[in-house]
Amino acid sequence: MSGYRIAIVGATGLVGQTILEVLQEYRVPVSELVALAREGGGRSVIFGGRSIPVEPLDGMDWSRVDVAFFAAGNPVSEAYAPKATEAGVTVIDKSSRFRMVPDVPLVVPEVNGATIGDARLIASPNCSTIQLVIALAPLARQFGLERIIVSTYQAVSGTGREAVTELEDETRHQIRGEALNPVVYPVPIAHNVLPFCDSFGDGDYTGEEWKLMRETSKILGEELALSATAVRVPVYVGHAESVYIETREPWSMDAVRAALGKGPSVRIVDDPARGLVPTPRDAAGQDDVLVGRIRKDPHHPRGLHLFVVADNLRRGAATNAIDIMRMLAARWSVEEAAVR
Ligand SMILES: NC(=O)c1ccc[n+]([C@@H]2O[C@H](COP(=O)([O-])OP(=O)(O)OC[C@H]3O[C@@H](n4cnc5c(N)ncnc54)[C@H](OP(=O)(O)O)[C@@H]3O)[C@@H](O)[C@H]2O)c1
Repeated sequence: MSGYRIAIVGATGLVGQTILEVLQEYRVPVSELVALAREGGGRSVIFGGRSIPVEPLDGMDWSRVDVAFFAAGNPVSEAYAPKATEAGVTVIDKSSRFRMVPDVPLVVPEVNGATIGDARLIASPNCSTIQLVIALAPLARQFGLERIIVSTYQAVSGTGREAVTELEDETRHQIRGEALNPVVYPVPIAHNVLPFCDSFGDGDYTGEEWKLMRETSKILGEELALSATAVRVPVYVGHAESVYIETREPWSMDAVRAALGKGPSVRIVDDPARGLVPTPRDAAGQDDVLVGRIRKDPHHPRGLHLFVVADNLRRGAATNAIDIMRMLAARWSVEEAAVR
């Protein structure tokens, strides 16, 4: 195949734009790119040095593409992803709409890529879940996970482009001593920390917290005793997580570092004496999951603390979705070669 025919639903959004960047960076062969959004509006996106017109999603002829990345929210995925799969398109969905549907694989390729099977619709997890499972998987395999407590520090880009503008505007107004009028978040995010990331649900946990808890169990393939607090902080890009783990088996610090060091997509950044700690600034613009502040709980023999940071738009969204496609593409080329 000379290249894949790809549609990006939500091509004008933060994730859609990052998908465009990462596709080019990873030199994914693309023979046709269809950029879709709510409406065309005379807009265009840049891909491979070319200007591609943005088209309205409504009325899309799905026979034009082989693969569609959906990055436009739950209602859009619910309404259009089934139309695309019925037309034979492989859908990689960034929304949460289908993640917990039992037959739909929820995939982080380096952790549970084998679960893709022959699914036509593949869900990509929540951004904070992806970096968490990448850090947890090597420890789960080697030591088992008895209990996990996670507190997140999530960037505003995780909410989308309007939240980025809100933080920029509020910061400017705050510095000038002007009134703040939050729209995206219920209270100002500038110079603030919000102890919730979206609406409250069962048991006084937020939707974001339930996603982190349920999705992690689905991906790691066991019912984990995981509880989470998801917090929004005034950072543009890069989610951070304070992760506390009690393992089933005992471990030494050397064994933990060795396990994490071998974990795909993990980079240990942990030398506080030399100022080496993982931060959102270090994580932004690259694909590694940075793990640092690795230390023992002084009160529990199998208690371990980690600080886990990643670029939510790349590793937490675009790169994971593209890695799913690259995994499928490797399989398609083998099948194609077998047919020849
Ligand atoms: N941001 C992250 O870190 C992150 C991480 C993981 C998953 N996600 C998920 O990825 C999706 C996109 O997030 P985002 O941050 O990129 O949001 P965003 O910056 O707000 O962009 C939203 C995109 O969706 C399009 N859209 C909205 N309604 C539409 C409709 N009815 N028909 C067609 N297109 C429509 C918008 O097009 P217009 O320009 O025409 O409005 C825009 O391209 C969401 O499902 C989100 O939960 C985001």
